[in-house]
Amino acid sequence: MSHMAEMPETVTTVAALRARIAKVRAAGARIGLVPTMGALHEGHLSLVRETRARCGATVVSIFVNPAQFAPHEDFARYPRTFESDCAKLAGLADLVFAPSVGEMYPEGFATRIEIGGPALGLESDFRPRFFSGVATVVAKLLIAAMPDEATFGEKDYQQLLVIRRLVADLGLPIEIAAGETVREADGLALSSRNAYLSPQERKTAARLNIVLREVVKRVQHGASIASAESFGCNALLSHGFGSVDYVAVRDAETLAPIEALEHPARVLAAARVGTTRLIDNTAV
Ligand code: PAF
Repeated sequence: MSHMAEMPETVTTVAALRARIAKVRAAGARIGLVPTMGALHEGHLSLVRETRARCGATVVSIFVNPAQFAPHEDFARYPRTFESDCAKLAGLADLVFAPSVGEMYPEGFATRIEIGGPALGLESDFRPRFFSGVATVVAKLLIAAMPDEATFGEKDYQQLLVIRRLVADLGLPIEIAAGETVREADGLALSSRNAYLSPQERKTAARLNIVLREVVKRVQHGASIASAESFGCNALLSHGFGSVDYVAVRDAETLAPIEALEHPARVLAAARVGTTRLIDNTAV
């Protein structure tokens, strides 16, 4: 007999979230949080499944965070698909936290968390207020839910390191777990922003990961970091990307620039196809 997986319960206030979590904590469950901005795809669902495998209670937050978008960015048109997100979470998540902007940033809200270290450079050179917006909302979500662990995707590799730094620096007793990037068959990393791509742009977009893997090969075969990075930029432009913000080979733990492959490294890139900005990264 088949029966419908149960839809997760939804709460919209921090008070209700805390009350629900207190109950499952009292029952002894390990609590895992997966923060998202909704528009859920298989990449998010794999984070939720991994969290569920380790935790007795899995909470997913869905909140399109205005603080991490610059005025010219896509906050207004960011896909909002709450009903279908909840349907995808049926049988996977126990609780959905979907606060309003007013719940997260009430009248008079005046705090912003600034991070150095891994937040410097790369994304910050092009989105200067992005990581302070992410850090502020993630700190609020973590403090609201106080989970045992929270899971973030490696797709946003710099963000993952920034959140690890944030949690260590604020002394939050929360483990940060990383989930591997889920890709389409042609290598394109799943992203809610892929929905913006036209069929032609979608074809170009697949080149991003292919070029990153070629950059990895080059540095592994002895090319200088600088020449591999400039190969990557030129290759993306010649494959139809309109502009390239960066292709950078960095220390995998600190994101500091490197001159040679002495420690684990990571190649990270951001480039625009049409009006859509895509990011990706891969281990070297
Ligand atoms: O990666 C995201 O979806 C967002 O940056 C996050 C971590 C949910 C904070 O809004």
